[in-house]
Amino acid sequence: MIVCVCHGVPCSKIRLVVREGAETIDAVGAACRAGTDCGSCREMIEEIIEETAPLASRARARQSLRMAG
Ligand code: FES
Repeated sequence: MIVCVCHGVPCSKIRLVVREGAETIDAVGAACRAGTDCGSCREMIEEIIEETAPLASRARARQSLRMAG
């Protein structure tokens, strides 16, 4: 599903950049341009960050533990 119509950015792309560390709307915009034009998609981007970022943070924490051990 396209979230940002202005730049044709799908939900899957936004989840990807969030998992890679973009955990604010501005960081998502810098990573894939979503939300950087009319702004009507920014609320949906925020919801995707809220759904995805905690999982991404946990995955990074697990990876750090594995690297430390
Ligand atoms: S729909 Fe995303 S900036 Fe316009």
